[in-house]
Amino acid sequence: MTFDRSIKIAPSILSADFANFGAECQAIEAQGADWVHVDVMDGHFVPNITFGPATCAAIRPHIKGVMDVHLMIAPVDPYIEAFAKAGADIITAHVEAGPHIHRTMQAIRGAGAKAGVALNPASPAAAVEYLLDMVDLVCVMTVNPGFGGQKFIHSQVEKVRQLRAMIGDRPIHIEIDGGVDPTTAPLVAAAGADVLVAGSAVFRGGSVSDPAPYGANIRAIRAAAEAG
Ligand code: DX5
Ligand code: ZN
Repeated sequence: MTFDRSIKIAPSILSADFANFGAECQAIEAQGADWVHVDVMDGHFVPNITFGPATCAAIRPHIKGVMDVHLMIAPVDPYIEAFAKAGADIITAHVEAGPHIHRTMQAIRGAGAKAGVALNPASPAAAVEYLLDMVDLVCVMTVNPGFGGQKFIHSQVEKVRQLRAMIGDRPIHIEIDGGVDPTTAPLVAAAGADVLVAGSAVFRGGSVSDPAPYGANIRAIRAAAEAG
């Protein structure tokens, strides 16, 4: 993975057909997705359950590019090795998931993956200040994690601006997760975000047998973000 701050669209397979993940990953990449965002939920840290490392390993061969694994689980540390072995390029854990997020970031890099740290909407930018020299990505949740299709929380745009200033020249991506569509993408892009996760706004209207709407949706989000 090389670093740059160009806009990257990362469709979340939380909005894909769960019976067809391999074909869905191939379809979104063929339609212009830059990264594939994989939402892991445990029914404990968040009130929903998705899947674990075995599913990540199963979909890995169907993804040519970056597999971006977002862990909404607590505890995190016992599972890092398994997600790294499953082929995650980036593993993101939440600052709220436990008392030792610094150790978690060390463990992710130690396992050979890029390290991401995520902030829930109520958590301040300052919560990651002392992690900035050991992370590759900061994920700003613009909804409360757990479900796709929620409304974008506008107060988070200011947090993105603060993070962008704190990050300075460091090679750290700012990722936005939740409620991203062509109306909200320009707000966060202008504030300094470069990775835009989108679930419902990418998958709406399309399917594996009719993937063209995925492409149109991805292009609309990218164009709005680049114009913003
Ligand atoms: C929320 C997940 C998101 C979610 C985004 O807990 O982390 O990745 O799937 O979905 P949309 O784009 O529909 O808000
Ligand atoms: Zn996510």
